[in-house]
Amino acid sequence: RTIDDLGNLTGKTVLVRSDLNVPLNDAGEITDDGRVRASVPTIKRLADAGARVVVCAHLGRPKGTPEQKYSLRPVADRLSELLDDPVLFATDTVGESANETVDKLHKGQVALLENLRFNPGETSKDDAERGAFADQLSHLADAYVSDGFGVVHRKQASVYDIAQRLPHASGTLVETEVGVLRQLTEAPQRPYAVVLGGAKVSDKLGVIENLLSKADLLLIGGGMVFTFLAAQGHEVGKSLLEQDQIERVKGYLSDAEQRGVKIVLPSDIVAATEFSADADHEVVAADAIPADRMGLDIGPGSARQFAEVIRGARTVFWNGPMGAFEMQPYADGTKVVAQALSDATKDGTLTVVGGGDSAAAVRQLGFADDAFGHISTGGGASLELLEGKTLPGLSVLEG
Ligand code: 3PG
Repeated sequence: RTIDDLGNLTGKTVLVRSDLNVPLNDAGEITDDGRVRASVPTIKRLADAGARVVVCAHLGRPKGTPEQKYSLRPVADRLSELLDDPVLFATDTVGESANETVDKLHKGQVALLENLRFNPGETSKDDAERGAFADQLSHLADAYVSDGFGVVHRKQASVYDIAQRLPHASGTLVETEVGVLRQLTEAPQRPYAVVLGGAKVSDKLGVIENLLSKADLLLIGGGMVFTFLAAQGHEVGKSLLEQDQIERVKGYLSDAEQRGVKIVLPSDIVAATEFSADADHEVVAADAIPADRMGLDIGPGSARQFAEVIRGARTVFWNGPMGAFEMQPYADGTKVVAQALSDATKDGTLTVVGGGDSAAAVRQLGFADDAFGHISTGGGASLELLEGKTLPGLSVLEG
């Protein structure tokens, strides 16, 4: 069901679940507002339809009680700027402030509730506790719109239980994200290349397993690469290594070979004496990382090779930076991969950047959002969708 299916919304109160989980610096300023910007089209559309719009979201992982550093207030300010209209801010989610704020709302006006996760019911594993919180939330509104794509893999009160209590629809962001990611799982144009990076291979096990039967090429970079190199029998020095995953990764390597999926690993690595921008660093062969060094980026030769593969593909999904890109000496691998995706996009290849870290990386490196086919707002959610899992926040919308 889409927003149109909710009928005439004039004067109706609509609760929208957005994903406004943005990074903040120590001064409480938003350092990447991508998710706030991505939430705007649905909010605007509801406001333009004359609804009284109540936005709810989470920030970080507070443990069920209020914590100043996880307040959504800075997000309310940014949303006001983007909507060019002041957004009312409630200092709680289902208490006095929320009720008063919602009562005050005029047609076409927008309010944001404080962090949902300040309430233990939001993330509780106990159905009754979550249900009780969803009941309270549902009393605020006449209808519910699910637009927080980044949280649809969570069985949480504002994502799952609420949809069982109110007339509901998916918002435009959820529709777009699901549409694009389904193109990757159902009928990708080939060659289909997947570039995976980020720190831990253990976060990507499901997606790698699934991709071995879908993708043509799997390019591995980032911290997880060292577990692959170790699985090939190489020494990785002080690099990040998940010893307990080596056997599993060996299995992937032989499975890939049998299926004709090419796993591309870096041939050179930028290796530093310690995890620091000032550390002494050099480019070494991937199979000869010195014992006293740690790999912090893929090397220039590998970056060129990855770029060539990406430019030759027709569909590319990328999740996870290639190195410790936030430190300038280790940003090149991620930059070259981002540039290759951007070039491939111009040539008509479908390119999808998934995951908060990769999205923040490409913006930090100066790439515009439209340099890529699609930048997903979902980290875990996009990976789980690619894994072929049923996501609670999506399946509940079908009921
Ligand atoms: C994300 O950052 O991927 C989403 O906002 C979900 O956050 P969570 O992993 O804390 O549930």
